[in-house]
Amino acid sequence: MASGKIIIAIDGYSSTGKSTFAKLVAKGLGYIYADSGALYRAITYFAYTNGFIDEKGNVDKENLQKVIMNITVSFRTNKKGESRTLLNGTDVERQIRTLTVSNNVSRIAEIPYVRSFVNMQLRSMAVDKGLVMDGRDIGTAVFPNAELKIFMTASEQVRAMRRFKELQEKGEKDTFEQVLENLRKRDYIDSHRETDPLTRSKDAIELDNSSMTMEEEIEWLNKILLPNFNLKVELDKEE
Ligand code: DC
Repeated sequence: MASGKIIIAIDGYSSTGKSTFAKLVAKGLGYIYADSGALYRAITYFAYTNGFIDEKGNVDKENLQKVIMNITVSFRTNKKGESRTLLNGTDVERQIRTLTVSNNVSRIAEIPYVRSFVNMQLRSMAVDKGLVMDGRDIGTAVFPNAELKIFMTASEQVRAMRRFKELQEKGEKDTFEQVLENLRKRDYIDSHRETDPLTRSKDAIELDNSSMTMEEEIEWLNKILLPNFNLKVELDKEE
């Protein structure tokens, strides 16, 4: 049985509930949580607001490359315990979750120099292990030696409905059809790009949470964690 802190890599399609699950796991283990998608989203927001993406979604790759090293993405936890994404020091958490960013992010995430830039930052978060990171290529490209890899799936309708409700709660006006179309497009681009496409690592364990509650997901994980790593996720009952 392995002991000590580990890296848990959680990959999967859009809106499979990776980040909600990953955050709970990190909290329950006292680990750091890192949302790799937030980095791609923040870079997309930067590119969009600084004229590197036109209305048709074409990216000015040459000029973006010249300034990418000036972009700093960091995370901060607010008083409510929520993780906020900062772009060059400014809180952009709300802006990076809009459908406009979702519609452009896969085009930014497929650029090889963007991926190298993001990977460098993601790997620097793992100095002391004790890390739960979610994304598309964490178990395959970012941390291929992660001690535990999970690949999350759920039916397309369930995923689109989850994202639709999330956007509605934030007051966004997008329709279910728009959300579903975005999800399909992103899944397609994410799994067909040349550099580090979304694919299930051979050693990843699949978790289909289409009809599971969060408690059941944690129960499922503890059945793996306890015997193999002597770790247990304790859910905070007050939440
Ligand atoms: O997890 P998310 O939906 O916030 O991610 C946004 C986009 O970022 C996703 O459509 C593809 C990209 N992404 C990626 O290419 N690789 C990762 N490790 C994480 C996200």
